[in-house]
Amino acid sequence: MILFSKNAFTAALSLLALAALGQACKDTAATASSKDWWETAQFYQIYPRSFMDSDGDGIGDLNGITSKLEYLKDLGVTAAWLSPIFKSPMVDFGYDISDFFDIQPEYGTLDDFRALIKKANELDLKIILDFVPNHSSNESDWFKKSVKRERGYEDYYVWHDGKINAETGKREPPTNWLQYFRGSAWEWVEERQQYYLHQFAVQQPDLNYRNPDVVAQMKRVLRYWLNEGVAGFRCDALPPLFEVLPDSQGQYPDEVLSGATEDAADRDYLTTTYIENQPETIDMVYQWREVLDDYQRIYGGNSRVLLIETYSPAWFTMQFYGNQSVNGAHLPFNFNLITVMEESPLSAANVKKAIDLWLNNMPAGRTANWVLGNHDKRRAASRYGQQHIDAMNMLIMILPGASVTYQGEELAMTDGEISWQDTVDPWACNSNADIYEKYTRDPARTPFQWTSGTNAGFSTGPTTWLPLAGDYATINVASESAAQRSHLHIYKALVELRKSVKTLQNGYTKYQALTEDVFVVKRSLSGAASIVYVSNFGSKEVTVNLQEFDKTLPASLELLIRSLASTRLEGASLATHELNLLPGEALVLSTE
Ligand code: GLC
Ligand code: MG
Repeated sequence: MILFSKNAFTAALSLLALAALGQACKDTAATASSKDWWETAQFYQIYPRSFMDSDGDGIGDLNGITSKLEYLKDLGVTAAWLSPIFKSPMVDFGYDISDFFDIQPEYGTLDDFRALIKKANELDLKIILDFVPNHSSNESDWFKKSVKRERGYEDYYVWHDGKINAETGKREPPTNWLQYFRGSAWEWVEERQQYYLHQFAVQQPDLNYRNPDVVAQMKRVLRYWLNEGVAGFRCDALPPLFEVLPDSQGQYPDEVLSGATEDAADRDYLTTTYIENQPETIDMVYQWREVLDDYQRIYGGNSRVLLIETYSPAWFTMQFYGNQSVNGAHLPFNFNLITVMEESPLSAANVKKAIDLWLNNMPAGRTANWVLGNHDKRRAASRYGQQHIDAMNMLIMILPGASVTYQGEELAMTDGEISWQDTVDPWACNSNADIYEKYTRDPARTPFQWTSGTNAGFSTGPTTWLPLAGDYATINVASESAAQRSHLHIYKALVELRKSVKTLQNGYTKYQALTEDVFVVKRSLSGAASIVYVSNFGSKEVTVNLQEFDKTLPASLELLIRSLASTRLEGASLATHELNLLPGEALVLSTE
């Protein structure tokens, strides 16, 4: 029996050699066995409402996406994740689902979805759907039946009598818990004479996962869309899936002041000890994984994957991966490159911190992943600065594991400016004109920029559901495709490199903050050329000696890919002991 492939064997040998040398820098071992599709995938997030409008109503739709699948093929990405496309009153733009088994009419029909899947299959692109388990819309039949206490639906949601205030004699919500979108997490329903819990908007009642019928129902949702041919799910908003159990009197505990803000409506005003990160949530993800694995066992085909949205601390997030005896999510999203840089500036040390935070906490044998942005955050090019978008796109393609791109990051699209009048995000609408910019997620949701023409080529209609971002005349697919050099060309070159170079898929990873501004990564695999990434995140020109990072590097490296800011030429040979970097210059180099 052959236990090791030749590659695995030599990789194991060189791992031993490295261990013997007592490597000073951070090294992560990787198995050189062949990887499953998702382990090295480039995922691409589509926000359907803003990707492509096929019928001129100013709202993106499924036929629009289908018409642009060739674009994704050309980008080279592996799989597209679609934000929710299900029937919804659109209070939270699809994250309030009224029918988990049907398509939102303004996005199309089930037949349109089938056509999308068919075309994606032809192009060898995988489609992943958003699974929103925490809540439904208050307009779903389930909720309507629950309000009426119809048999089988009485406990579909988290209902509570509330408590009577001893002084006033008045009824009050059961606890002081706050929703994410500002204000109380409890809403009174006159008809049922009870409060229901909503961790998000009032129109998003929380499903009750302590009810086995709800658990079974949501597994039906997964199987239903698996039957339609999807390659997996991005699971929405996991931290609030379960709340703590009530005490023997049926009472829930209050949260205490967190000290983080004075704003008593803000979720951060109180702790979230009892309403987030409960152990039952982890177990539920393991159960969903079983549904997916069973499906594959029965019907064959590629692995169906689970990606998990959670902004929880590492001790909780890492449990989603599973443990020695059970598999969990394939990839709990790694948002560290977003969150670390939200609190501190973009610097080599902070990039290192974000990477360490994931790789040092990830359980052995699991796969890392790297996310730059999504529909809930300001756009990456706006957060990091447009001059650093190539450096960041390079980083997520050079680091080990999978990467996730939010639509437009490949173009360096920036945030739109949305006035209070034009604001539609419920989080912002629950605030006021003075503070809405702190909460609004609209700026990252403006229409995708295809051309410099009317509505940026997104829609032929008279208006679009959100105004366009101001930079569409230059930042768009058509202009960047036609240009000799562009963010788009760089992105495509990176995807291509990641696909074709085994070192990036299976190699060891070593990285270091070489100076305050300069960050270096080396990927190496025995018998193959090493790949070196170096980026200047600063605003000054610097000269570095890469030998200080790695003495085994040759005297010169060949330039493969460079950021827009770089004035060098691909194929050039660069001396490692004295490498000059312009501000915003980022390079991908090879030892061959
Ligand atoms: C997730 C989504 C966000 C949505 C929320 C409630 O965080 O990404 O857009 O508002 O869940 O479903
Ligand atoms: Mg439309």
